[in-house]
Amino acid sequence: MLYLDNSATTAVHPEVIKVMQDVLAKNFGNPSSLHRKGIEAEKMLQISRNFIAQTLQVKPHEIVFTSGGTEGDNLAVKGIALQYQNRGRHIIISQVEHPAVRESCHQLENLGFEITCLAVDKTGCVDPELVKTSIRNDTILVSIMQVNNEVGTIQPIQAIGDIIKKHTKIFFHVDGVQGYAKIPVQLKLWGVDLFTISAHKIHGPKGVGALYIREGIKLFPQITGGGQEGGIRSGTENIPGIVGFAKACQIAREIFVVKSEEMSNLRRECIVMLEESIPSIVINGPKDEEASPYIINLSIPGLKREVLVHALESEDIFVSTGSACSSKKDITSPVLDAMGIAKDLKLGSIRVSFTYDTAIEDIEVFVGKLAQVVEQLLRKN
Ligand SMILES: Cc1ncc(COP(=O)(O)O)c(C=O)c1O
Repeated sequence: MLYLDNSATTAVHPEVIKVMQDVLAKNFGNPSSLHRKGIEAEKMLQISRNFIAQTLQVKPHEIVFTSGGTEGDNLAVKGIALQYQNRGRHIIISQVEHPAVRESCHQLENLGFEITCLAVDKTGCVDPELVKTSIRNDTILVSIMQVNNEVGTIQPIQAIGDIIKKHTKIFFHVDGVQGYAKIPVQLKLWGVDLFTISAHKIHGPKGVGALYIREGIKLFPQITGGGQEGGIRSGTENIPGIVGFAKACQIAREIFVVKSEEMSNLRRECIVMLEESIPSIVINGPKDEEASPYIINLSIPGLKREVLVHALESEDIFVSTGSACSSKKDITSPVLDAMGIAKDLKLGSIRVSFTYDTAIEDIEVFVGKLAQVVEQLLRKN
């Protein structure tokens, strides 16, 4: 089996499974309990929080655990909007944000907020100048993702951050779900106020994530109750998931440092091989430095995305049609729409996504099989 859908989710790392099994079996205490079992669980929570904070070079109390990227994005966007609405009701996002950000903004629109949705260029990139010219007196939040989940575009977060820094009343949220532990993150340098991450994209468990919230920022909580996580996100913490998340971060970061250049070369070589083997292929999105080493989005003129996905599946190769959220619907992706991709290419686009253990041999197998499948399908057409 060749699994190349790592942007949708990753296999849980065996060491993550091991630590989670241990916690599930032995450390079942509630971290809020005063007795020994509670204190034991609280200690694990603290160690995991400290570790994740350290990976982001922030303070432990600036990390709030969530149920994943979707919750982190919702908490950041709606939390800022509802908390600071007296300052203004204008929010800036881009046309290529994840639905978790987009839909949060739609909800806010219904509550009277105004959303500016910035256009992108043909590689899916946001122009920082557009951010600058869209800022108004009543702007309270800019939310731009670090890496696009469908085409891999790395956004100019530092340049956008430099603009926002000049406006002390505007908060900057970055959805880092596809960037964290894969490409460099420098929250302080970039002037990021809120940063969303998720465990299952880096070989951790599903249903766990975290939101970095810069010290001093208040968020309007969306889940209220027992006041856990500093009152920002109530609910008994998912200790096995959180411990597994911290372990996944540790493994991912250690490998990232060693492999970052290798992964960039791998993506580049994959594109060269694809273009040599399938001359009609179109790569959607950036081809090199502006792209995450882990994502390639491609189209074969004349072939439909679901046909390609299933043809590859019959060869035991797993890829996806755009994002996991839109892959089952017969609609074109808003990301590819925003990039101005032609309709037949949009309906034929597939996403291939790697992880740190994807090897050049895997790429050779993938390109070889894809070329074979494409030739057969085009002959049938
Ligand atoms: C950029 C981005 N943001 C947010 C999410 C949502 O994360 P989760 O699946 O942990 O809810 C995803 C997941 O695909 C993503 O790619």
